[in-house]
Amino acid sequence: MNSQKKKILVLTGGGDCPGLNAVIRAVTRAAITDGNYEVWGSIEAFNGVLSDPLNIVKLTKRNTAGIHVTGGTIIKTTNRGNPLEFPSQTEDGTWTTIDLSEKLINTIHEEGFSAVINIGGDGSQKIGLALQRKGLNIIGVPKTIDNDLSATDLTFGFNTAVQIATESFDKLVTTAASHSRVMLMEVMGRDAGWIALHTAIAGGAEICLIPEIPYDLNTILEKIKYRYDHGKSFVNIVVAEGAKPKTGGAVGEQSADAGDEHFKYGGIANYLRKQLEEAGCPAQIRTTVLGHIQRGGTPTAFDRVLATSMGVKAFEMVKEEQFGQMVALKNNRLETVSLEDATSEYNYVDHNNYLIQTAKAMGMSFGE
Ligand code: F6P
Repeated sequence: MNSQKKKILVLTGGGDCPGLNAVIRAVTRAAITDGNYEVWGSIEAFNGVLSDPLNIVKLTKRNTAGIHVTGGTIIKTTNRGNPLEFPSQTEDGTWTTIDLSEKLINTIHEEGFSAVINIGGDGSQKIGLALQRKGLNIIGVPKTIDNDLSATDLTFGFNTAVQIATESFDKLVTTAASHSRVMLMEVMGRDAGWIALHTAIAGGAEICLIPEIPYDLNTILEKIKYRYDHGKSFVNIVVAEGAKPKTGGAVGEQSADAGDEHFKYGGIANYLRKQLEEAGCPAQIRTTVLGHIQRGGTPTAFDRVLATSMGVKAFEMVKEEQFGQMVALKNNRLETVSLEDATSEYNYVDHNNYLIQTAKAMGMSFGE
């Protein structure tokens, strides 16, 4: 009977990512198939539980039907919903933070939830760990287009972002060739160069700039000049948003939004264009900043499969009471990893990574 069913709360936190809906659908369907659970979604990460009245919705076969095909998240998300440091405006208009974790955990227990499935990136998993230490039965599902979580070989959303970036890159190649131009395409990824590296190899870029390998302007200029001097009339460059020169930092600014402590990258392509023009680049330069296009739209089949299997795994973990753990893909197997280990280090591009060797063997420059 319905009243005897155990209740699971699902939420999506941090930036959205293609595949979130596939996880939501998978958890819901696995629970319905099992027959002993019902699944609820908290709207806008934990904010749904913290709001008065509660903003949570029961997830059913009907309201999750077909959503694996769509981008975004039907239960919404936010990167300003850390219950341990919740943004709060004081009387004088300034912002401060308050700890609402006790209220949150009490409400979740009062509402009869026996487990929480927290779908999110590094920041969300860190919040999950803190809440687990305070007594919440929580399970993590990793997501991010940046692929910067070290505990899992891959996160869903990454493959879609690379596919979108590669399709955009392919389009830029033909216009670069027609106009004999240098094209700079800026992609996301925060401090990790994975999206840029994969896109550059898939697209066949001449130059790829990533945060892990600071660049030298002269090296880039020499590579461009060499191409123009040797019968090639265009250059295509993929630049990660977090890329930086050997001397100097990344381009961007601290988020102005209360409750979002992230440094927002953006602008390196235009910064570099100016630098190259001033240094005497022999061709016209154009820039394209892909931005949030990389995070929107239909997830690739690969991401749908990964997200669906991670959702089913998360439900199995609820049944087995593997709380304080996160789903991880390791050597083509779905495993579990403690939230401590999952959040202890980032997955950056190693200089010895086989893809760096591959790119160099293909003649690609990292501007070193
Ligand atoms: O972490 C995912 C990501 O898309 C990064 O690649 C990017 O730097 C950041 O989020 C953008 O954040 P926002 O959506 O808050 O602008």
